[in-house]
Amino acid sequence: MADIICVIGNKGGTGKTTLSHMLCQGMGLVGKRSVCVLTDTYREPLDPQGRRYLTADARTRESLAKVVDKIRSLKAWLGIIDGGGNRSEMDRKLYGLADLVLLPFRDSHEDIRTVIRDLETFPRAYAVPMQWPSNAWQKEAAEKTVAEYLAPYRDRILEPVNTLSASKLLLQKQLPAALPTPLANACRGMAHQVLDLLQISIEEDFVDQEGASSHLAAPLAGNKIAPASITA
Ligand SMILES: Nc1ncnc2c1ncn2[C@@H]1O[C@H](COP(=O)(O)OP(=O)(O)O)[C@@H](O)[C@H]1O
Ligand SMILES: [Mg+2]
Repeated sequence: MADIICVIGNKGGTGKTTLSHMLCQGMGLVGKRSVCVLTDTYREPLDPQGRRYLTADARTRESLAKVVDKIRSLKAWLGIIDGGGNRSEMDRKLYGLADLVLLPFRDSHEDIRTVIRDLETFPRAYAVPMQWPSNAWQKEAAEKTVAEYLAPYRDRILEPVNTLSASKLLLQKQLPAALPTPLANACRGMAHQVLDLLQISIEEDFVDQEGASSHLAAPLAGNKIAPASITA
């Protein structure tokens, strides 16, 4: 059965949509098939063209149920559900159906306050530092803040995703032919962390062919369902 990963949190702008797409792209880069599920009524669906994953539109309650059922029926796939923010009821529902829950947060007091509340509300969830500074002294300051406020949750904080201006490429309707290497590496790194948590191994013989579109199409085309039928 497929695994469902939900990216939630009761605050907008923390990086939920970015993290969801990075994770899906990263899954594709390590040879795993995934679907990025949109639930945010304020966002437009993105074209799967050029991505290493499918996209699904689940902006209504009924379509979410259908999309989740469909994904569950796909052997060895991963469904990554991008939550909307400011929707506690929806977050609780997604938490209930997820195999793994991620809570992105940035290096700000407001984000940290919110993520603490979410970590308390969702005891199985992991927090993901997003838009993390790579500059040495800023990074040190961010780490200090985390050590101070998030000490009780230390084991539930994943490796950070650095600030990458290229990350917005993933949120464009259409992807460019090739992604910048630092972004591809960050996507892959995130996928590795999540696969570790889910105890899913990566086939050792999988050879990543960056930018090879025939390779990209193959795993998706080989599946029984067409992209359109995932879009309930
Ligand atoms: N790692 C990152 N590096 C740089 N910008 C980022 C990163 N993650 C998110 N952002 C930016 O932050 C903003 C909010 O991100 P988004 O993923 O839309 O958040 P949410 O879905 O939680 O509202 C966007 O402009 C996005 O491009
Ligand atoms: Mg979003």
